Amino acid sequence: MLSVSGLCASYGAINAVTDLSLEVGEGRLVCVLGANGAGKSTTLRAISGLHRPVVGSVRLGGAEIGTLPAHRVVRAGLAHVPEGRMVVAPLTVEENLRLSRYARRGDEAEMMARVYALFPRLAERRRQVSGLLSGGEQQMLAIGRAMMTQPRVLLLDEPSMGLAPAIIDQVFRAIVTLHKQGQSILLVEQNAEITLEICDYAYVMRRGSLVAQGTGAELRADASLLEAYLS
Ligand SMILES: Nc1ncnc2c1ncn2[C@@H]1O[C@H](COP(=O)(O)OP(=O)(O)OP(=O)(O)O)[C@@H](O)[C@H]1O
Ligand SMILES: [Mg+2]
Repeated sequence: MLSVSGLCASYGAINAVTDLSLEVGEGRLVCVLGANGAGKSTTLRAISGLHRPVVGSVRLGGAEIGTLPAHRVVRAGLAHVPEGRMVVAPLTVEENLRLSRYARRGDEAEMMARVYALFPRLAERRRQVSGLLSGGEQQMLAIGRAMMTQPRVLLLDEPSMGLAPAIIDQVFRAIVTLHKQGQSILLVEQNAEITLEICDYAYVMRRGSLVAQGTGAELRADASLLEAYLS
């Protein structure tokens, strides 16, 4: 469904991503692991149109989207939850969710009900200004806002970053629920332990390139490999 091949992305003379290929099949939860600066966020930004131009091919359901600007990529069915959440602080929870209507995919009330079912905490705080939410709640809101576009593939950039362990568990449980509901997900993480437990397939990046891939079980079995690439 999402198929990336030969992707290269740079910042001037810095090659942040080099010749990267990966796939996210229908209904799959696929992750990209890597240490700081490995190129994970650049990969997601290159896929979702926030980084342009890129070399290589990004195909969604057979259509090339690697040349489209970000707003057209959202309409094509990809939603990106960026590193650091980026909720619109002065707006309420509900107003943040409504922002996604420009993508015009699906019924707004129905999608909002789905978001609130997944994150009851957001329903309780729907009239709260988003800037006053905790980090975990902001992460839930950022995921909810992406869900509002009914994406064919959901891109998540380090959703566990900066959260307390109990909150990380909650966020990961929500990701597992979405996966069970059939949502295709590409998850970027540094937290290998939890991620390898829940994903169908994983890629490991180092200095802009893929250095390993396999099922969660396969990669977990090779602890020395992960230690070498993730630290
Ligand atoms: N705006 C930028 N300008 C120049 N170089 C950048 C920029 N953003 C990232 N880079 C460089 O590109 C490389 C990949 O960065 P990227 O942010 O994609 O890594 P990452 O795996 O997401 O790291 P982290 O785990 O810290 O989020 C790094 O060497 C980084 O310093
Ligand atoms: Mg990053």
